Amino acid sequence: MANAQPALDAPPSPPSGELQATGTLDIKDSRTSKNYSVQIIQGGVEGDTATRAMDLRQIKTAPDEFGLMTYDPAFMNTASCKSAITFIDGDRGILRYRGYPIEQLAEKATFLEVAWLLRHGELPTQSEYDQWVRDITFHTYVHENIKTFLQGFRYDAHPMSMLCSTVAALSSFYPEAKNIHDPEQRTISIVRLLAKLPTLAAFCYRHIKGLPFIYPDNDLSYTENFLSMVARMSEPKYEANPVFVKALEVLFILHADHEQNCSTNAVRAVGSSQVDPFSATAAGVAALYGPLHGGANEQVLRMISEIGSPKNVDAFVESVKSGKGSRLMGFGHRVYKSYDPRAKIVKALADDVFKQVGMDKDLEIALKLEEAALNDDYFVSRKLYPNVDFYTGLIYRSMAFPTDFFTVLFAVARTAGWLAQWEEMLNDKEQKIARPRQIYVGYGERPYESQLKNRFPSAKKDVLRK
Ligand code: ACO
Repeated sequence: MANAQPALDAPPSPPSGELQATGTLDIKDSRTSKNYSVQIIQGGVEGDTATRAMDLRQIKTAPDEFGLMTYDPAFMNTASCKSAITFIDGDRGILRYRGYPIEQLAEKATFLEVAWLLRHGELPTQSEYDQWVRDITFHTYVHENIKTFLQGFRYDAHPMSMLCSTVAALSSFYPEAKNIHDPEQRTISIVRLLAKLPTLAAFCYRHIKGLPFIYPDNDLSYTENFLSMVARMSEPKYEANPVFVKALEVLFILHADHEQNCSTNAVRAVGSSQVDPFSATAAGVAALYGPLHGGANEQVLRMISEIGSPKNVDAFVESVKSGKGSRLMGFGHRVYKSYDPRAKIVKALADDVFKQVGMDKDLEIALKLEEAALNDDYFVSRKLYPNVDFYTGLIYRSMAFPTDFFTVLFAVARTAGWLAQWEEMLNDKEQKIARPRQIYVGYGERPYESQLKNRFPSAKKDVLRK
């Protein structure tokens, strides 16, 4: 991973995005004793190296054979794209958006500035930023029929199910969004999605609570407006707690992108069929919902409340290690094999928020869990460290968000990354419809011999109808 870095005082030059051939890999096929040479390619200053999987196709035992494939369940070692958006070095705990360290962005930038950066590759000028904020603010309203649509959900519907469906439904309101090769259409779709996600998220919240929907207040900033739509009651003007506004802004920045994670891969894969971005984003929301991905922040709090008291932590850790209990939620990461840099920022942020609202009652359990795991060989040997979700739930709870709403907050932020990645995919001449191969391990051909006596059985024997 580590490669020659440019001198610190060298002016940053924009990355070319090209892959350079840096060597060859010689392969001998023991079946045929033939030798093959495949190129080793490298991208960017950080120097990730790879070979093109398609180069292996030439390796075969007979001319009419398909040729060699790679087998890589769960993409453990496969780069599906080249990307200039987010850089992660999982061993050194580094995360950068477009070259800018996450720590600096979290401290100094705004979420909308980061959303611009992710999409355009450079920080916005003042006039670009002003226009961007104006455009997004202008598009925060949703069609009134969306309210009717949301009212069709049960009072106890999970907000991620509602969000996923309503984002998909937006596609039906903007049929022109399917013109994805038109840059103007892409821009307006991206603006609409970034603008409307907080509105949809807040409407989902109000539906669960049985409260009237609060329309966007375009005098407020992105995060203030979101908090207003969530929490405003009878007051004519919502005044958000500045500590909460800052915390949400930072959390949105931390969650804005994370290269080829499960939901981003879903957005790229679905988007590669050239569907509109509303439908592709709905796929991202669906992927994020899962407990091994964005749903983990919700699971962390459920786990902590199950533990119940700091004195039960050791027994819980033992049950995780024995495989009898669940995993330690909020721990471990496919890419980070050291402390997740976002988790460090979140832990410090938690201190700020708790100073304002008082200590979370379960912080002690969380701290004890972290300490126990960081000193236990099971976790140390597997390089399992707290990930971004370990402490976010405690912050969200202290801001009075219900547990099952946490992943919705994640989705609002990640929309910025999904859309930047979606557009990068569309503009990448090497990309095609995403369609992996498989290694078929089922039956060979066999004749059809039905075991059915009745092909149209009646459903009338349903117990309830007896
Ligand atoms: N608790 C206990 N053991 C774990 C955990 C955990 N949280 N995570 C991994 N392990 C163990 C596995 O059992 C496995 O052990 P083994 O080698 O003895 O079989 C080993 O560590 C490697 O685990 P994998 O599942 O192969 O790691 P993978 O990279 O596939 O999984 C994942 C990464 C899904 C994040 C996993 O660590 C996990 O389930 N964590 C808990 C859920 C979580 O917090 N998800 C949020 C991720 S961050 C995000 O999406 C925003």
